[in-house]
Amino acid sequence: MRAAVLHAFGGPEQLSIEEAPDPVAGPRDVLVQVHATSVNPIDFKVRKGYQRGAVWRRPPMILGMDVSGVVVATGARVTRFRVGDEVISSPSHMRPGTNAELVAIDEKECARKPTSISHLEAATLPLVGLTAWGCLVDGAKMKAGESLLIQAGSGGVGTFAIQLAATGGVHVATTCSGRNAEFVTSLGAETVIDYTKDKFEEVLPPQDAILECMGGDIAKRSMDVLKPGGRFASINVGLDARAQRMNPYLAFGVTIVATAGFVIGTFIKSGTKVYPVVRKADGPGRLTRISEMVDAGQIRAVIDRTFPLSEIADAHRYCETGRVRGKVAIEVRQ
Ligand SMILES: NC(=O)c1ccc[n+]([C@@H]2O[C@H](COP(=O)([O-])OP(=O)(O)OC[C@H]3O[C@@H](n4cnc5c(N)ncnc54)[C@H](OP(=O)(O)O)[C@@H]3O)[C@@H](O)[C@H]2O)c1
Repeated sequence: MRAAVLHAFGGPEQLSIEEAPDPVAGPRDVLVQVHATSVNPIDFKVRKGYQRGAVWRRPPMILGMDVSGVVVATGARVTRFRVGDEVISSPSHMRPGTNAELVAIDEKECARKPTSISHLEAATLPLVGLTAWGCLVDGAKMKAGESLLIQAGSGGVGTFAIQLAATGGVHVATTCSGRNAEFVTSLGAETVIDYTKDKFEEVLPPQDAILECMGGDIAKRSMDVLKPGGRFASINVGLDARAQRMNPYLAFGVTIVATAGFVIGTFIKSGTKVYPVVRKADGPGRLTRISEMVDAGQIRAVIDRTFPLSEIADAHRYCETGRVRGKVAIEVRQ
């Protein structure tokens, strides 16, 4: 098969399009012919070697954590899918990724593709959808009528999270630059704070919950707009900076200790409940529900730019600018 192979941790030039061995489906796997995939910030972080404590694979490796495609073979113990089924997934980061013509995925990480949208659109939804779901449904357990601040509402996670929250009757405030204000309003945000002009902590009333994805100073300042006992779902507590160059086992340990310290410390100090969220690759439950919501017209895919697989390095460069509005899609099969 053709695949984008990362040969060494480093810049986008380390990605090369080449022939690679076809994956073989294990007993519980479906073999998926990839029609489309996407680039998420996690991909360039892994490419740079910044996720060694979480993604334990080493180059040469295939990146990519989103797919929409068609099942072309099934393992002996697969029960939910048959050859010819259209599926989506954000598969485990512990196995070869989706930036290739074929990928083998455990069937429990797959859901049926929404029928109302293209493969290209469908491939932009699994990772951000499962992440937003982890934050708002599993973590903060948002209810209709509550208030929520979503940081970076115009990004991949933000565009999905705004729609998920708004469709559940949550009052959404979000940050982005002025050029994206109209866009996030069209997704369901009621209040937009242009971070280039205003400080959100100075203009917003206290919120029931926050979805925080920027980390650093923005994460710290976000705490100031939470009601007492509020919920703080974070997808960017990230690996502790010290852990990024350690060996994977030590890095993993340091990250767990640092994160637990933050969660417990914050609760003791202010009563805030912190939910560090990592997307769960749950096909039959969460991802199937997401697929149904798309077909019900409650959530739409937002593609900023599309690249062919052969230009994956440029897709990484674009994603790394931090200016993506929605998602970067990758076309693998026309
Ligand atoms: N833990 C997990 O499971 C998980 C899952 C997914 C993502 N993440 C992490 O979450 C972060 C966000 O991911 P993403 O896919 O949403 O990123 P993204 O799509 O690259 O975000 C780009 C958006 O961020 C906005 N932005 C940039 N600086 C901002 C600021 N200071 N304030 C408000 N908005 C700002 C930009 O809007 P403007 O152009 O208007 O500035 C742009 O639309 C990444 O660090 C990613 O690695 C974690």
